[in-house]
Amino acid sequence: MLNTSAEAFAPATVANLGVGFDILGLALCEPGDVVRVEWLDEPGARILTITGDGGKLPHAAEKNTACVAANSVLKLLGSDAGIGIHIEKHLPLASGLGSSAASAVAGAVAVNALLGEPLDFAGLLPACLDGEAAVSGYHADNVGPCLFGGITLVTGVEAGQIHNLPIPKNLYLALVTPDVEVPTVMARSVLPQQVSLKAMVAQTAAVAQLIHALYTEDLEAMAAAMENDSVVEPARAHLMPMLYEVRLAAKRAGALGMVISGAGPTLCAVCSGESNARQVAAAMQAVYEEAGISSMGQFTPVAKTGARVLNIK
Ligand code: HSE
Repeated sequence: MLNTSAEAFAPATVANLGVGFDILGLALCEPGDVVRVEWLDEPGARILTITGDGGKLPHAAEKNTACVAANSVLKLLGSDAGIGIHIEKHLPLASGLGSSAASAVAGAVAVNALLGEPLDFAGLLPACLDGEAAVSGYHADNVGPCLFGGITLVTGVEAGQIHNLPIPKNLYLALVTPDVEVPTVMARSVLPQQVSLKAMVAQTAAVAQLIHALYTEDLEAMAAAMENDSVVEPARAHLMPMLYEVRLAAKRAGALGMVISGAGPTLCAVCSGESNARQVAAAMQAVYEEAGISSMGQFTPVAKTGARVLNIK
């Protein structure tokens, strides 16, 4: 018997990990977006409802990341099915937590589930990237970890170019999102178009140190490498309210390091263990509270798995 609906979850992600601009990312356990899909009579996917976005997300099929991804899955399969989409947004928009990628991935995974799972996650990657591209460019540093989970090295946009890296024991993240939107397009527009040879060598060394630290499970070296970014953070710092004050507070509370999550303004601190991460998140939030900026705080380990089907009915 034909299923009538399918629902999928796709998690928030932290892109860049500081120094690894556009090539590193990781998945969080929570929060994530949920997309439910059902059959419609007319061919193609379209948005039926969106909740949790404050009315900000587009409903137009070609502008909504979940809908673009859903249509891309149909195209990949040569299907003329009609699909209605319900999006439950749990991620703040333009926050540096991979919100557009999460909706795209949840949309693609849900449609695939409704169709009886003809594609595996690697097969869904191009559709997820099409969805992400509708908003923030054809790159996989959010989509990769969102779909596959874990800490990922993204060397290209093919599934074979996305590599899982080890997750060090005791790694916890404290994340705080101030109530300020920083659109990715804007955060990319402030970046330098060229860097010096000296900066290139330092950045390459820091990425290599970071990957080595993951393999040796050295959280201190990992955090130090992440922070050792002389190219992207300095160019974006002015877009992130209280960046340096929050970093200081995070470190005073025991964080090993702190970086901008993706294109910001979420800030992500590297911590050892859950109780330390809880204290660090509270200390980071206290800085914003004192400045009169509301914020959302959380602490979480890295999610070993990414998107998942929640139910098929
Ligand atoms: N690597 C991207 C950036 C992540 O920092 O601009 C946002 O999509």
